Amino acid sequence: MGIEKDKSLLPYNSFHIEARAEHFVSITNEDQLKEILEKEAGKAILVLGGGSNILFTKDVKGWVLKMDIGGIEEIKEDEQHVYVRAGAGENWHSFVLYSISRNWAGLENLSLIPGNVGAAPIQNIGAYGVELKDVFYELQAYDRKNRKVYTFGLNDCAFGYRDSFFKSAEKNRYIILNVTFVLNKVPVLNTSYGAIRAELEQMEVRTPSIRSVSQAVINIRKSKLPDPAEVGNAGSFFKNPVVDQQLFLSLSKAFPDMPAYPHEEGSVKLAAGWLIEQCGWKGYRKGDAGVHQLQSLVLVNYGHATGKEIFDLGEAVAGSVKKKFGVVLEREVNVW
Ligand code: EPU
Repeated sequence: MGIEKDKSLLPYNSFHIEARAEHFVSITNEDQLKEILEKEAGKAILVLGGGSNILFTKDVKGWVLKMDIGGIEEIKEDEQHVYVRAGAGENWHSFVLYSISRNWAGLENLSLIPGNVGAAPIQNIGAYGVELKDVFYELQAYDRKNRKVYTFGLNDCAFGYRDSFFKSAEKNRYIILNVTFVLNKVPVLNTSYGAIRAELEQMEVRTPSIRSVSQAVINIRKSKLPDPAEVGNAGSFFKNPVVDQQLFLSLSKAFPDMPAYPHEEGSVKLAAGWLIEQCGWKGYRKGDAGVHQLQSLVLVNYGHATGKEIFDLGEAVAGSVKKKFGVVLEREVNVW
């Protein structure tokens, strides 16, 4: 097992923030994971996937376990479905492309999302009308408390908007080893999201396929989201806020153009990007920390911003949204 000391985490986080790990190890199988956790019990441990949803504001005084468990396996099938298990360390978009190449449908709307398979259920990743929960079958996770591997089905995961059992009640207790997806042999395409329909039209696609929907999503993402390979970022920095009817009604009276979407139990989801833009932050830059010029929900590192600078910018943005709209923005990105 290759253990490295005082390792730079800059290549391992999509914000491109310089932070150091006291100990760093790439985990490629379950036994390695158990060995380290047992030997190092009590030490600070950060489980890192693709590093696309984390902001480092300090060094890791302890262990960084980089989850690199790979493998894609078709475990069973029936007439309509195929059940595919992917290791936590598989790159998400490569897995999506692999499924598309096999003509398995269900993941196409989730094309080009940065990060790895193991992190996807934690915040129930979602885009363009589809969430991970829609294609989820089960996952296996190592329980740090009972030192055992458990299997979690759909009903065990409490998936919600950018939320799950693994993020709320039991944060950090379980380490996801692999995820099994249920994919369709006969595509049921979801093109309900306006931007997808517009892009398909632009592409002159009359009969959409798994491939063309994936391509449309890739085109949309490329057109408005910064590529982490070029400009450091972690996608949406905040979740879209969910507010009650009362607040929604008073806001929509004052701001008739405000985008809003019906959510669970009469609540309403607002567009954080719109709220942030209305506060004048779009394209803002101080030093190397900024608010993206096309999508205000994305904070960016133009070069050598520190985690603290990005964090402080996020606090200032959330503060002004609270002041102007009375709406609290909750971070989507994890802060270390
Ligand atoms: N908007 C603005 N100004 C902005 C940004 C957005 O006015 O600067 C408006 C848009 O015009 C639109 C609305 O806000 O009316 C929603 O914008 P968009 O469709 O771009 O989606 P989003 O709500 O900002 C969410 C997800 C994205 C996902 C897209 C597409 C969250 C936190 N973000 O963004 O996910 O790709 O929908 O489904 O739910 C991510 O989680 O990292 C992520 C990128």
